[in-house]
Amino acid sequence: MKFPTPSETTNPASIEENRLHLEHLVSAEALTPAEMNAGSDAVSGLTQNPKSLPPKYFYDDRGSNLFELICQLPEYYLTRTETAILQGCAQAIAHLTGPCEIVELGSGSSTKTRILLDAYSKLGYPLHYLPIDISPTILESSACQLLADYPSLQIHGLVSTYELALAKISPSPLPTRMICFLGSTLGNLNAQECDLFFSQIVAALQPGEYFLLGIDLDKSREILEPAYDDSQGVTAAFNLNMLRHLNRRYEGNFDLAQFEHWAFYNQDQCQIEMHLKSKKAQTVQLKSLNLTVEFAAGETIRSEISRKFNLDTVEKELSQRGLKPVQVWTDPNQWFGLMLCQMSDVTSILAAPSGDVDG
Ligand code: AVI
Repeated sequence: MKFPTPSETTNPASIEENRLHLEHLVSAEALTPAEMNAGSDAVSGLTQNPKSLPPKYFYDDRGSNLFELICQLPEYYLTRTETAILQGCAQAIAHLTGPCEIVELGSGSSTKTRILLDAYSKLGYPLHYLPIDISPTILESSACQLLADYPSLQIHGLVSTYELALAKISPSPLPTRMICFLGSTLGNLNAQECDLFFSQIVAALQPGEYFLLGIDLDKSREILEPAYDDSQGVTAAFNLNMLRHLNRRYEGNFDLAQFEHWAFYNQDQCQIEMHLKSKKAQTVQLKSLNLTVEFAAGETIRSEISRKFNLDTVEKELSQRGLKPVQVWTDPNQWFGLMLCQMSDVTSILAAPSGDVDG
């Protein structure tokens, strides 16, 4: 895949300085084993009872744009609450870590990163940013914008899944590194996926390096449900877009008018669930997957879980893995939490009392 050079989108000085390096760990030309299996997750999800689909199918170009709109909705408090927390603590984070490479998983438009970059730059620290995103378009356009706005910034971007990127990132060019996972995207992983994800983070960090995690905290149904079922119908459009995406990708014939958005808080599981509910009994085909799916009237496909967390529980879980909480910040309502952890060295994990360590 050809990328325009930075000169096409930003100032020519950046080419001479060679401040942008984009690497494709996932590309159309070199399919990874996961990509070669494309669609098998949709087949298994749609042939199970109850039916489900992986949330990755939200994010085609239209879905990514709809998600950006969700982040600005009055009911969707997550983005603005996390942003406000970050604005209040970025300087403290920079002081705590010292000069540090900022790694961001699912960097998207890199909006919140600017708050961190501003804090590090105020202290006169060198700015090194390693954004990781599956979309080359968004990665490249936000990288070019950042280079234009931060003249000393060096960017090494990875077009990749989290898993591949975490397994492959090279040692930090600065004394330390901080992996950021913001926006409570952790909540979209089930317990097993979360477990695997934490072990990949631990494996990617050297002793002394940092992990910055943003998590949405458990709260009342009255606040949670409107955040996932807004009055303007943007979240409904985002949810239904998954079916449009599947139609395009796998030659499907989902009729979007015959499904509806359904979101509710499952208090037992501490998670919002988003579903697509069939309005009638119907048959849908996904030709390129060789798949025919029958729906009963009212039957649903679960398209997403969004888990809501308790700070103490997450802190404990991270400490057990050697990720020692350094500091936690929340908003005055305690709706959202931002947690800075530091990777212990192996000797201190082994020396911990057995009750504090996994296994
Ligand atoms: C990306 N993720 C953290 C969002 C969430 O809140 O779980 C996705 C989302 N789904 C509906 N609205 C937002």
